[in-house]
Amino acid sequence: MGKGLLLTVSLVFLQYASLENIDPYLCTHLVYTNSRDSENLTEWNDDDMYRRFNDLKRKNKKLKTLLGFGGWNNRGSRYVNISSTLKNRKAFIKSVVHFLKRHKFDGLDLDWRFPRRENSHAKYKQYFTLLSKELMRAFTTEALCSGKDRLLLTAAVTANIFLANLRYEISEVSQYLDFISVMSFNLRGVWDGFTGHHSPLFVGSKEHLPLMRFNINFALKYWRDQGTPKVKLLAGIPTFGISFTLKTSNTSLFAPIAGKGDPGPNTQKSGILAYYEVCPFLKNATLEYIEDQKVRYAFKGNQWVAFDDRESFKTKAQWVKRNRFGGAMLWALDLDDYNGTYCNEGSFPLANTLKTTLGV
Ligand SMILES: *[C@@H]1O[C@H](CO)[C@@H](O)[C@H](O)[C@H]1NC(C)=O
Ligand SMILES: *[C@@H]1O[C@H](CO)[C@@H](O)[C@H](O)[C@H]1NC(C)=O
Ligand SMILES: *[C@@H]1O[C@H](CO)[C@@H](O)[C@H](O)[C@H]1NC(C)=O
Ligand SMILES: *[C@@H]1O[C@H](CO)[C@@H](O)[C@H](O)[C@H]1NC(C)=O
Repeated sequence: MGKGLLLTVSLVFLQYASLENIDPYLCTHLVYTNSRDSENLTEWNDDDMYRRFNDLKRKNKKLKTLLGFGGWNNRGSRYVNISSTLKNRKAFIKSVVHFLKRHKFDGLDLDWRFPRRENSHAKYKQYFTLLSKELMRAFTTEALCSGKDRLLLTAAVTANIFLANLRYEISEVSQYLDFISVMSFNLRGVWDGFTGHHSPLFVGSKEHLPLMRFNINFALKYWRDQGTPKVKLLAGIPTFGISFTLKTSNTSLFAPIAGKGDPGPNTQKSGILAYYEVCPFLKNATLEYIEDQKVRYAFKGNQWVAFDDRESFKTKAQWVKRNRFGGAMLWALDLDDYNGTYCNEGSFPLANTLKTTLGV
């Protein structure tokens, strides 16, 4: 495959953008994700949304669409239930094929955030391998029978290598996946107790273990070194910033924090700002560049936000090209400045920067 640019449309935030705003020429693949807490696909009855989403392919005939399955909202027991027995896997896979075909999706993106740290049964990662293997087999069979293109199977995986080793048999499962998006963001947060950038390209000069392992460069190369073909690996790049409320007047990196940052005016969630909310924040804020990590942060009063902008998108995309990885995955399209009103950089400035730099 190679040369992929997966853009994720997260329905969690889509209320602020609309499907019809999406430029279908921005990427090679679009992923539809929602937060359904059910493995029973018949309960995912957003038929009108699926139709409008897949209608984007009428405009760009080369565009491929994927259905995202999993995420934070699925409870661990459900992952086990789907994958632990041959009978359950068969039932799930059958429903997946039927569902994707009925709604005209071109594939499935597995967002398998299980097990969590505390729940580290070795057999669970074998279940994930089996599920992927049998899904790929079913997709291949379906293509032979229908004479149509094979459905795609991709996965979004953690960039935390310690968790990755709990969750995935990396070299085995990589064989059955078309693309693997390494979600190299949310790598620092309020749990650290101090400020830091959640999606740095490189290690910071003042970092110790385990933080030294939490950057795009390390994560992608780790997946590669464990046996994943480079062309299948996509770097996850966020269109959102992670914000903190400072504890003291110290505004530097590693400064103590009192908690998550104030909610953004539109997204209304503590600790996160969409790129289109970062732009207005930057007015009157102090802007800093983290030279060794190639990303920026800004602060104003007791609010501190680490974010990505066109410059860091460009740097990251150039790094992807230089290292000959497969491409990038952007999370999430609806957090970019979708109609260009907030940042004055045109519509979808971050997605456009990725597209232009990767040359897809
Ligand atoms: C899935 O949900 C539908 C509608 O709620 C229900 O009729 C069906 O029995 C469920 N299937 C399974 C396998 O739980
Ligand atoms: C487990 O999966 C089976 C088959 O898909 C389904 O019938 C059953 O309701 C599920 N059980 C739970 C607890 O979700
Ligand atoms: C701010 O915090 C950092 C990290 O703890 C520390 O190195 C630095 O000296 C502090 N700066 C001030 C002005 O207190
Ligand atoms: C920026 O500062 C100026 C002068 O103090 C003030 O008038 C303006 O409202 C501020 N803008 C924002 C977005 O905070």
